[in-house]
Parts: sequence; C-alpha cells; structure tokens
Amino acid sequence: MRNVLGVVGSLRRDSYNRRLLRHAAGVAPERLRITVADDIVRLPLFDEDLEADGLPPEVAAAQGAIRSADGVVIASPEYNFGVPGVLKNFVDWASRPPRRGAFIGKPVLLMGASSGRTGGTVQCQGQLRISLAVLGAHVLPAPPVLVAEAGDKFDGDALVDETAREVSALALGRFLELVDAMSAGAGRREAPSTAAAT
Ligand code: FNR
Repeated sequence: MRNVLGVVGSLRRDSYNRRLLRHAAGVAPERLRITVADDIVRLPLFDEDLEADGLPPEVAAAQGAIRSADGVVIASPEYNFGVPGVLKNFVDWASRPPRRGAFIGKPVLLMGASSGRTGGTVQCQGQLRISLAVLGAHVLPAPPVLVAEAGDKFDGDALVDETAREVSALALGRFLELVDAMSAGAGRREAPSTAAAT
C-alpha cells in the first residue's frame, strides 16, 4: 500500500478542487491510498522570524505529513493566472529548512479544476512545476489533469464528465508507477543540484 497526502489549494467550502481530489481518492488504484488533508494549507504567512522563533505547530504538522507520505497529490485552482497564495505559502513552508525541505524526492501529482472556459489551471500548474522541481520533487509529467468549466463537470460532489474521469484515472495509474519507482529508491533522498540554491 502506498500512502499519499491529498492537498487542496482552495479554502472554499464547496471547492471544485476538493471535490476533484475526493473523486481521485475514491477511484485511485487499490494500492494507492489518498488521504485528503482538509485545510492543511491554512497556515500563517511564511515569515523567517516566525520560523526562527520556533515552528508553529500546524506548520510542523504539515511538514511532517509531507515527509511521512509516499507522495503528494495537489488539486488546486488558479487565481489570476497563478498559484493561489495559500498554496504558495504552503509550498514555501514545506521548502524549509533550506536543502532539507519536505518535498525532496517526493512524487507529486498535480490536478486542477477551474470555473473558467480555458486552461483549467494550466498556468498554476506550470508555475507549481517550477517551484516543486527546484525543491527536489518529482512531478508526474503527463497526462495533465486540467478540468475547465468545472461547473458543468460535477453533479453535486460527483465528477460526471467522462473525459475528466478518464484522464484522472490514467494519471492516478501512472502516479502509482512513479510512487513505486521512487519508493524503490531511485533518488528518493537526493535533491537536484538546483536545490542548493534554495
Ligand atoms: C479565479 N478564477 C480563475 N479561473 C481561471 O481559470 N483562471 C484564473 O486565473 C482565475 N482567477 C481567479 C482569481 C480569483 C481571485 C478567484 C476567486 C477566482 C475562477 C476559479 O477557477 C473558480 O473560482 C474556482 O471555482 C476556484 O476553485 P475552487 O475554490 O472551486 O476549488
């Protein structure tokens, strides 16, 4: 069994991305257990002084949850063609301490739903890929899980769009392969040389 942490990049109660992640948890391959960590991104704003004074308990818990998971699935909206502040803040806390951040060697699957007609969070995911790569994570390259016009693709909590369901299932299967490969030891503890800059 591979245990994976599920992170939602939206704090909204009826978030499409929370629904997308819950769908993923429900249809994931049997050996992939996704635990949706509700509100794990609800953290104080990153502040090096706060960090120096001692990690806030919720930050320590978030870092610990990433470190102890075999991988991370992030389902996030896009705000203003970028990563929502709460999610970027989560990633910044997770990047600490320098060169020993929680994402080092961690397989990551990105998913996203937006109410917009185009993109379906493609720019948010592109930006996240850059940050996560420099932190030493291994983000699944394909297929991209981009659910545009989310209002038409859910019926209540259920993801009913056939294409979105198929792409999600394909991505989850490939993600399990990536998690298996990383858990087998392929660079699990290694940060890329670029991480030295962070
Ligand atoms: C948005 N939304 C949005 N959608 C998009 O496709 N591209 C974008 O750049 C933005 N920008 C944006 C900024 C802000 C401040 C808000 C509040 C919203 C719309 C967004 O896709 C929609 O609100 C989703 O429903 C948010 O995801 P959750 O909360 O449903 O998971």
